[in-house]
Amino acid sequence: MTYSPVSSATSLSVKELRQDFPLLHQNVSNHSLVYLDNAATTQKPDRVIKVIDRFYRQDNANVHRASHTISARATHAFEDAREQVRTFLNAPHTDEIIWTRGATEAINLVAQSYGRTFLKPGDEILLSAMEHHANIVPWQVVAEQTGASIKVIPLTPKGELDMATLPELLSNKTRIVAVSHVSNAIGTVNPVQEIVRQAHAVSAIVLVDGAQAVSHFPVDVQQLGCDFYVFSGHKVFGPTGIGVLYGRQDLLNQMPPWQCGGEMIKQVSFDGTTFNTLPFKFEAGTPNMAGSIGLAAALEFLQQQDRTSLQQHEEQLRVHAEQRLRQIPEIRLVGTARQKVSVVSFTVEGIHNQDIGFLLNQKGIAVRTGHHCAMPLMDHLGIDGTIRASFAPYNTLEEVDYFVDSLQQIIKQQLYSCNASEPSTQSESNQTETAATSLEAPFSQFSTDQNAANTLLDALHSSRDWQSRYRQLMLMGKNMAPLEQHWKTEDSRLHGCESQVWLHHHYDDNSMKLYFAADSDARIIRGLIMLVMLLCNGKTALEIQSLSFEDEFETLGLLTHLSPSRGNGLRAIVDEICSVAHRYL
Ligand SMILES: Cc1ncc(COP(=O)(O)O)c(C=O)c1O
Repeated sequence: MTYSPVSSATSLSVKELRQDFPLLHQNVSNHSLVYLDNAATTQKPDRVIKVIDRFYRQDNANVHRASHTISARATHAFEDAREQVRTFLNAPHTDEIIWTRGATEAINLVAQSYGRTFLKPGDEILLSAMEHHANIVPWQVVAEQTGASIKVIPLTPKGELDMATLPELLSNKTRIVAVSHVSNAIGTVNPVQEIVRQAHAVSAIVLVDGAQAVSHFPVDVQQLGCDFYVFSGHKVFGPTGIGVLYGRQDLLNQMPPWQCGGEMIKQVSFDGTTFNTLPFKFEAGTPNMAGSIGLAAALEFLQQQDRTSLQQHEEQLRVHAEQRLRQIPEIRLVGTARQKVSVVSFTVEGIHNQDIGFLLNQKGIAVRTGHHCAMPLMDHLGIDGTIRASFAPYNTLEEVDYFVDSLQQIIKQQLYSCNASEPSTQSESNQTETAATSLEAPFSQFSTDQNAANTLLDALHSSRDWQSRYRQLMLMGKNMAPLEQHWKTEDSRLHGCESQVWLHHHYDDNSMKLYFAADSDARIIRGLIMLVMLLCNGKTALEIQSLSFEDEFETLGLLTHLSPSRGNGLRAIVDEICSVAHRYL
């Protein structure tokens, strides 16, 4: 079976299903967790966790060739898992199932083994405008290596592939078509069977990126007719670090090994090496045995469910969420394809996506914000990113309502209230008034005197709990004087952050002190910038180098609540400040 839309009646007992997923039963930010980040990774049912636990307690030994009982047990479980994947995809042969670390590695394998061997200058690779970076960059690399070029299927305004362009894009130069079955960013289900039909008519082979499809509906690679199909275990209720490449036997047999080492050989001597047969030819080194077995348990779990009911339930969640979101005037839905899985992407006018993500987290709701590893799609849509809520069968209509109600409340508070309820301290209103007079703009506005800085820092530290500290950070962000537009230059932009961040520095030769000025389009990042400015501004390079940012962030709970990776800006700001300080040592 492949994708077919379902009506919304469902007999699924979500309450029972949720019992199987231990992670869901916890509080985050003092609220019951509402996990709506399933397109990034799904949660694991009890049996997957138990199977992995049991493997390491009872069956762990290296697979294949060993002459002892434990290894034989591990080998059987490992090869049974491969067979489980074969039935899951309805692949004709078990040796067409290759274990990889995930969808990304599987695509790289095909690009480097098939692509690098068979592509030549003038050949074309056809991708689509909605691909995940994992299905773009490996092809760019192999195109560079072979002299092939890349063409792109455009999208319609609804976020569907513009199929009318396909006959023109496909020609006898097209060697490979690589498309996602389902878009991770906007949820569109693509007409893969039709793409395969047209691609095969010009003798191109087709790789389907099924990372976002397999958890939502049954996939039959024979019915699709595709040549390669890839997916990741962790997006289908299985463990991380394991994934699958399905490839047609005749193609896999023609392809050279990609990675080399143990397991993938038949005979090695210094005169030469002969390679193993399928599937081992592509599985160099000790495989992820626990991962394979865990994935098989996840697939078995899924196959034992009534998949039509799961699909109906997810559809109900998506339709309900979209109906309610459409009623909020500030919200713009992104991606309104006729055939979608349960992924809802949107932007909120006047509020940065990252702020929405953080504020929802304050209510226990986990969503994803940003470009979702689909920057070309975001460029195509003319936006930086979206807020994405992605539903799994264990989500409930009540959760969807709580999510939309919370969003409404956030929009109201952020755009229309004068923050009467937010704490206001004498020190906060001081922060731009105590500027050092000797400094010029924009540094003067960030230069609080040490007493004022200490008062603000004390206020942050003495907040009674994370919620009030978070409000205080948001307020600091709100009160921080913005950089004037002409300071927001490309040169001063820090890259790798989800939001836009600009940073300038000034070194005072007389006092040997450094001053920084920065800004961001996300309010929470502005709050964090203010914190970093309070810690660093007016200090010597040596003093800055000796600051323990990590300890400060840990004490304030930022590491727990904001996961300050480079992606959210804080780490990028601190890295840049440290590297500036290093130059003045
Ligand atoms: C459509 C799509 N393809 C590929 C990937 C890459 O998957 P992984 O990181 O598990 O290799 C993802 C992950 O988000 C995805 O959504």
